[in-house]
Amino acid sequence: MSIELLNQKKGPEISKYIYGQFSEHLGHGIYGSLYVGKDSEIPNVNGMRSDVVDALKEIHVPVLRWPGGLFADTYHWRDGIGPKDTRKKIVNTNWGDITEDNSFGTHEYFELLRQLGADAYINANIGSGTVQEMAEWVEYMTMAGESPMSKLRQKNGRQDPWKLKFFGIGNESWGGGGNMRPEYYSDVYRQYQTFLPQYDKDHPIYKVACGPNQDDYNWTETVMKYAGKYLDGISLHYYTLPTGDWDHSKGDAVNFPEDQWVSTMTRAEHMDELITKHTTIMDHYDPDHKVDLIVDEWGTWYDVTKGTNPGFLQQQNTVRDALAAAITLNIFQKHADRIYMANIAQMVNVLQAMILTKGDQMIKTPTYYVFDMYQKHMDAELVEGIGEIPDNVTYTASQKDGKLTISLGNYDLANEKAIDFTASNPFRKIIDATILTGKEMNSHNTFTHPEEVVPQAFSGGSIQNGRLHVQLPTKSVVSITLE
Ligand code: AHR
Repeated sequence: MSIELLNQKKGPEISKYIYGQFSEHLGHGIYGSLYVGKDSEIPNVNGMRSDVVDALKEIHVPVLRWPGGLFADTYHWRDGIGPKDTRKKIVNTNWGDITEDNSFGTHEYFELLRQLGADAYINANIGSGTVQEMAEWVEYMTMAGESPMSKLRQKNGRQDPWKLKFFGIGNESWGGGGNMRPEYYSDVYRQYQTFLPQYDKDHPIYKVACGPNQDDYNWTETVMKYAGKYLDGISLHYYTLPTGDWDHSKGDAVNFPEDQWVSTMTRAEHMDELITKHTTIMDHYDPDHKVDLIVDEWGTWYDVTKGTNPGFLQQQNTVRDALAAAITLNIFQKHADRIYMANIAQMVNVLQAMILTKGDQMIKTPTYYVFDMYQKHMDAELVEGIGEIPDNVTYTASQKDGKLTISLGNYDLANEKAIDFTASNPFRKIIDATILTGKEMNSHNTFTHPEEVVPQAFSGGSIQNGRLHVQLPTKSVVSITLE
């Protein structure tokens, strides 16, 4: 089978924010993993764990969504500022009813961003907060001149304002964020965004409205109709559950049968239909594409690792997750004209994580390596392809700085796949080719065997007469860069 890549046609830019991450006050998503505190024996810089930060810097995290998720709608930002010993201890009612000591707050979040080199994406509390509380938080973060909140920030040790790039108004307001109807939410959104102060006129804060739960097309329709002209992005949440069953077993993360491999891939592919249908509705209300679709929660969701707190959502990550990530990232790239940001849930220790930690140990997951391999697509131009692709194969291509990168996944468990690529400008040579695969469909990294699944050099690609031939092994993700 053969694909012709139209690399002389100008495609949309693939936003680097598609590779965004999400960290919530949930289990060990922040405490003990990203943030250990200055006094920890685990090496850290200003409390941020050095091994984890270093690993994340390698994948160039472009943006980090915080503080939730469901937690956001119970979060009162004033609890997380000022001297640590005076910070209020609260109960995290969403995630395990554990004590939250608020030692990681606004200042710590921006310090983490500084170390990662990532942009800010903060989700406001509209569920149990107030308009004033939200407005004052933004004033605290972004006001350069003299004001009550900028003075408070300075008293707490930060002279200059921070740069707040993205701001979410509502999280899952259709569910745990307030159980609102879309008509009501649209009005709440309009009210809150009215009082969102924009102090930095050169860099206005990008406003994200709460969008639909997976296929709730009525939500998208209603919010676009009533609030569409007041927002920059509307967010979609969609998780991949092998069984599709939220109430009983979602499926085991490691010991799963083949049919759950298949259902995971099918459900990951479903993202394409969701984006297509939601953006068709958006096209109707916003034909000039002023509003982006943001997928600020996505990823696989399994039963928690046995013996761990059910409220901590800790799960292993196998070759199956690598393929689910490749499928999803390819879909986002294909829809680069509307998808401006996506945030996988979640960055460390929660759901489909990049990194797992245990005490002072740390491992990189197969999903981490897919994000690593796909970095070349960040801010590159999408290259459209025409032709037929084999069953169970996913791919996208992009070009940047005169180089073309094709990323592919073969999620067939039994058969390797052959695929050829041609381009308007014939290929001359392969500059770099990498494969991520494992011996078994559930191969994964552990603290005792941290390198079971790591990228290797790929030798299954060859060029003849300007044509690229790729022989894709079963259950593999491959990335090839060419001139
Ligand atoms: O990512 C875990 C949770 O999933 C988030 O807190 C919530 O928004 C979603 O339901």
